[in-house]
Amino acid sequence: MGYYIVRGGRTIGGEFAVRGSKNAALPILAACILAEDEVVLENCPHIRDVSLTLEILQELGCKAEFSGRTLTIDSRSLSKTEIGRDTVRKMRSSILFLGALLGRTGKAVLGHPGGCAIGKRPIDLHLRAFEKMGVVVRERDDLLDCEAPHILGYDIYLDFPSVGATENILLLAARAEGATVIHNAAKEPEIVALAQFLRACGAEIYGEGTSDIMVEGVRKLHGAYFTIPADRIEAGTFLCAAAMTGGEICLKGPEREQLEAFERAIERTGCRLEWESCGPCLRLRPPKRLSSGFTLATGPFPCFPTDLQPLIMSLLTLAEGTCMISETVFEARFSHSAELCRMGADIRIDGRNATICGVKRLHGAEVSGKDLRGGAALLAAALAAEGESIVHGSQFVERGYEQIEKAFASLGGDIRLAE
Ligand code: UD1
Repeated sequence: MGYYIVRGGRTIGGEFAVRGSKNAALPILAACILAEDEVVLENCPHIRDVSLTLEILQELGCKAEFSGRTLTIDSRSLSKTEIGRDTVRKMRSSILFLGALLGRTGKAVLGHPGGCAIGKRPIDLHLRAFEKMGVVVRERDDLLDCEAPHILGYDIYLDFPSVGATENILLLAARAEGATVIHNAAKEPEIVALAQFLRACGAEIYGEGTSDIMVEGVRKLHGAYFTIPADRIEAGTFLCAAAMTGGEICLKGPEREQLEAFERAIERTGCRLEWESCGPCLRLRPPKRLSSGFTLATGPFPCFPTDLQPLIMSLLTLAEGTCMISETVFEARFSHSAELCRMGADIRIDGRNATICGVKRLHGAEVSGKDLRGGAALLAAALAAEGESIVHGSQFVERGYEQIEKAFASLGGDIRLAE
C-alpha cells in the first residue's frame, strides 16, 4: 500500500484537461454486456475501478483492450454469468452487472456487495425493482442468485433517487418485454450518460435527467462508439486544491450545468469562476483569503454532490468564518474530518452535521485517507499546509484518480507517491 509525500505551501495552478468520468464509465462498461457486439469507448480514464471492471468483463468471457484512452469491448464471447464475492467486495459498482447480466441472459449470480467505509449502502431498492420486473432473487451463502426467464417492464417508484438503482433498472429495462417507467429516478449527469450510451446501442429511453424515465424494451442492442464525458468530481477536486493554495487554474472539459451547485458554493468563499467558450474551459481565480459563513447540504443532483463534500470541507478549513455542512446522502462520510484536525483544522462533528471554523493555516502531519474522496481531500489540504505531510491510502485515491500525484506535480505541487 502506497502513501503520498507532500511538501505543502506551493500554489496549484495552470491548465489541466479533466479526465473521463469514473461514475459514467463504470455503468457504461457493465452496459457493454447488453450490446452483443463491439463497443468503442473514447476518453476512458486509467483508474483502478476501470481496471477492476475490465477484469470482471474478462472473467465473464468478454474481450477488452485499451489503446491510449480508447477502450474496445466485445461481449459476443460472454460465457459466464457468475461473479465471485471477492471481486464484488472490491468494488461496489459491480452490482450493476446484475442488471446487465440479467438483461442479456436472464441469469446472474453475484457476491453480496456488503458495506463500505462511507455508510451501510444497502441494495434493497435495486432488488425490489428487479422482483417487480419478474426476477427471482435467492440469497444463499452471501451470494445473490437471480433468475428471470421473462423480464417484464413495470411502473417503478424509487423511495430515494438512488444512482445505482436507477442505473441497474435502466440496464434491465433496456431489454425487457414492454415499457418500464422509473419514477423518482436519479437525475445525475452519469445517468444521462448511461442513457445516451444505451440509446447509441439501439435502446429506447426517454426522460433521462428528469425524475421520470421511460424505457421501451427492445430485443437486442448493437455495438456503438461513445465518448465518456469529463469527470465533474475530478474537476471539483482540482478547483478546491487550486483555491486552497491560492492558485489560478483553467480546466478543460467540464460541463457547466453539471457543476452549478458546486460553483455556487465555491463562489461564496470568494473565488471567481469564469466559463470560457473555447474548450469548454473553466477558470478559477481565488481571493486573497477564502471566506465562509454559510450552510451547505449535500443531496441528489442538482444539489451539492456528496462526492465533493470532503473536498469543500477541506477548503473551508482555511476560510475565514464558520460554515456548517449537512451530509444527507451517506450517514458516515466524515472520516476525513478527524485527519484534517490533525493538520490543525477546527471541525466539530455532530451526527450528519459538521461545523468548520476556518483557521489561518494548516500544518503538515501524517494522516490516512479511508475512502476515495476523503483521501483526495487530505491531499488538497496537504498541498496547502505548511511543511511536510504523509498521506496514507493511495489504494483508495487510485480507484478514481489517474496518477493524481503527477497531475498535481504538473500544476506546481511538490508531491510524490511512495510504495
Ligand atoms: C453513486 C456513486 C457515488 C456517489 C453516489 C451518490 C458510482 C459508482 N458511485 O453511488 O460516487 O457518492 O452515487 O451520488 O456511481 N440506498 C439505499 N438502498 C439502495 C440504494 C441506495 O438505501 O438500494 C441509499 C444509500 O445507502 C445511500 C443513498 O441511497 O445512502 C445514495 O446511494 P446511491 O445513490 O445508490 O449511491 P451509489 O449508486 O452507491
